[in-house]
Amino acid sequence: MIFMYVWRMITEIAKAAQIIGSLKSLTVFTGAGISAESGIPVFRGEGGLWQQYNPEILDINYFLSHPLVSWTAIKKLFYDFLKGAKPNAAHFALTELETMGISTTIITQNIDNFHQMAGSRNVIEFHGTTKNLICTKCHRMVVATETILSDLPPQCEQCHSLLKPDFVFFGEGIPHQAYTASLEAATHCDAMLVIGTSGEIMPASLIPIEAKRNGAIIIEINSDKNVFATEKSDIFICAKAGEVLLQIVELIKTEKS
Ligand code: APR
Repeated sequence: MIFMYVWRMITEIAKAAQIIGSLKSLTVFTGAGISAESGIPVFRGEGGLWQQYNPEILDINYFLSHPLVSWTAIKKLFYDFLKGAKPNAAHFALTELETMGISTTIITQNIDNFHQMAGSRNVIEFHGTTKNLICTKCHRMVVATETILSDLPPQCEQCHSLLKPDFVFFGEGIPHQAYTASLEAATHCDAMLVIGTSGEIMPASLIPIEAKRNGAIIIEINSDKNVFATEKSDIFICAKAGEVLLQIVELIKTEKS
């Protein structure tokens, strides 16, 4: 039984490497699972943030009416936790694909900036970023420094209104540019590598569906089975992102040398 499982995984990794290695460009769609090996908790499932916190802290209406409660949790979960955390082998493997001549567009639902820290250049932040804060009234943008976050809830220097992280809350729309650029990348790719997402959040989960609808091969890496795996992926590799991507990169390197 275990032998069959391992054999199947090796075969799927080899197939994925063969497809990715033959491409000039690749679109990647990432979720919280790719950052799990950096010690960042995922949202759903075992050990996920929503087992400990009520997701309403990220609901825009709740945030506006309870800024201190929301900000206290947000600071702990998305700022204190990220302090000192670094991209992992999976993020670096994607950068390496680019170095090997495979032009890579990364659409990420993550707000941790790890893809850019690992050196990826073409990154679309579908859900925004923790890096900046935006004024809920005058829309002035500032960098999220420790000083600004030392007094919660943070206020705009200009109009003294509430500052909000520049990432997408429940009840808010996706930034227009990120949305159109993601759809464009999904529509025109030959293959999409889907990594570490439960696929439960709309409209993000439409991106791989759009790619598939336009004929792309969907290769998925996830440490667990989920909606994409059972319904949409052509190749599904059930393992940790870092481990799998390192093997894929090594196989492509061998093939190209
Ligand atoms: N390697 C690969 N996959 C992993 C790993 C790992 N090391 N660890 C966990 N996973 C998988 C889980 O099996 C799960 O399917 O990552 C997925 C994480 O799912 P979610 O926590 O739902 O994260 P995500 O899909 O990114 O959530 C989407 O929900 O609350 C919002 O805005 C938030 O962007 C987020 C969105």
